Amino acid sequence: MEIKSDFLIIGSGMAGLTFALKAADYGDVAIITKKDIAESNTNCAQGGIAAVTSEEDSYEFHVRDTLEAGGGLCKEEAVRILVEGGPARIRELMDWGVKFSIKENQELDLGKEGGHSKRRIIHAGDITGQEVEKVLLQRVRARGNIAIYEHHIAIDLITRAKLDRCTPLGDPEDVCLGAYALDRYSGIVKTFLADITLLATGGSGKVYLYTSNPDIATGDGVAMAYRVGARIANMEFIQFHPTCLYHPAAKSFLISEALRGEGAVLRLQDSTPFMERYHPMGCLAPRDVVSQAIDNEMKKRGDDFVYLDITALGEERIKERFPNIYETCLSYGYNLAKEPIPVVPAAHYLCGGIVTDSYGRTNIKRLYASGETACTGVHGANRLASNSLLEALVFSHRAFLRAIEERKEPSWELPRLLEWNIGNAVDSDENVVVTHNWDEIRRTMWNYVGIVRSNKRLNRAKTRIDLLQKEIKEYYWNFIITSDLIELRNIATVAALIIRSAIVREESRGLHYNLDYPQRDDQHWRKNAVIYLDKLYFEAVC
Ligand code: SIN
Repeated sequence: MEIKSDFLIIGSGMAGLTFALKAADYGDVAIITKKDIAESNTNCAQGGIAAVTSEEDSYEFHVRDTLEAGGGLCKEEAVRILVEGGPARIRELMDWGVKFSIKENQELDLGKEGGHSKRRIIHAGDITGQEVEKVLLQRVRARGNIAIYEHHIAIDLITRAKLDRCTPLGDPEDVCLGAYALDRYSGIVKTFLADITLLATGGSGKVYLYTSNPDIATGDGVAMAYRVGARIANMEFIQFHPTCLYHPAAKSFLISEALRGEGAVLRLQDSTPFMERYHPMGCLAPRDVVSQAIDNEMKKRGDDFVYLDITALGEERIKERFPNIYETCLSYGYNLAKEPIPVVPAAHYLCGGIVTDSYGRTNIKRLYASGETACTGVHGANRLASNSLLEALVFSHRAFLRAIEERKEPSWELPRLLEWNIGNAVDSDENVVVTHNWDEIRRTMWNYVGIVRSNKRLNRAKTRIDLLQKEIKEYYWNFIITSDLIELRNIATVAALIIRSAIVREESRGLHYNLDYPQRDDQHWRKNAVIYLDKLYFEAVC
């Protein structure tokens, strides 16, 4: 079955939906999303969107904070584009109907988070992502020319190099023509063809055992792009959010950094505060510092968690500012207003991803990437809190501007119809293998490629993931694909890319901390690790 549109968008978070709304003025849009359209990383975002909107703030301050957090690896030009493009995109969201929290004087109620020198987090209570997603979806649904394919999981991108023997993978003339996607209900693989394809598939937290991310975060965009020869960079920089609720049933429920912005204190189990010993900004230090400090204290003492204490803010203000977090904690038996709550770090954000220019373009023609799956250069070695939604907004807008131009340029003509070929694949009667491999990858990554790494741990992880990848490859070609198998192949690919990049970085910087090289070494390692086909090379930061 073949479906043609002008624009194909894979993923339905903020990056995908804002692009879709704009592109729909220029042609038909198809959105593929692997679960319900509202299930996205955006939807889980509590904290908000960082942007310069107050008189006390300035672009220079926001740029400086972003560069500082990024540990010397941010691309300054991209950071400036991000910061200076922010206010217009916030106004656009408000014009579309997004309701951000405001103060009594009708000004935006700006929150504060780790690494920010000023209050600049625009939020909608503690459910910012939900509010934005709700409004974007209403608008997308109202458009007659945006077709939404829910419960469709993209399998692979379709490129010229895959169809035409004369075009090798990674060729500068390679062009993306769409993607194959599995309809999870009917089991049919459909061919989606489009002039422009945007990968907006979000993050890859599910590569780790404990993550703040929803189940959909399996790094599909990065894995698919890598397979067709897109350049992938900085995969070793995985951000661990310092504070997820520690509770067996809570599935790493995120406790927003905004709590620390409002004065919450991290304490040891004997209630001693400890962050001042690690950083002058204390509990509001950048995330890499806070997560490493918590990890260090837990390991030193053999503790399973530390406490986060916001009781000093008072019950009324807590309920008003953090209604969702308050209620959720209560449902797990913790009253935020009366007691400190147990927290642990969990995998939260992929700072690297598919390399794009400042217009969201990858090295493959007509293939764009935006949001967490992309590596625009703004996050460097550690993302500043609440810069992620901003990045999705600013760079999706720029991708849209470039995409409508690229569409006018002549492209390669498709030589033939492209049905998915199942070959000799048969139904598997051993799905337990898939479950088992999923579990093994996630545990291996958590234990050996987590907040604190070492050469021995990384090499151990490499041996295991290499073996698993071999097994998955065989399984993949012999059995009829399912969404679990597609995701398994993707998390294995992403895990391998993370390990490969982590092994070669012989220093500690930002989110990559290796016990065997505990110092940051700007002289040798102020570079981005780029993986392209089977090569890994370093590129100077500009
Ligand atoms: C949070 O609310 O702490 C998450 C915000 C972010 O990851 O930027």
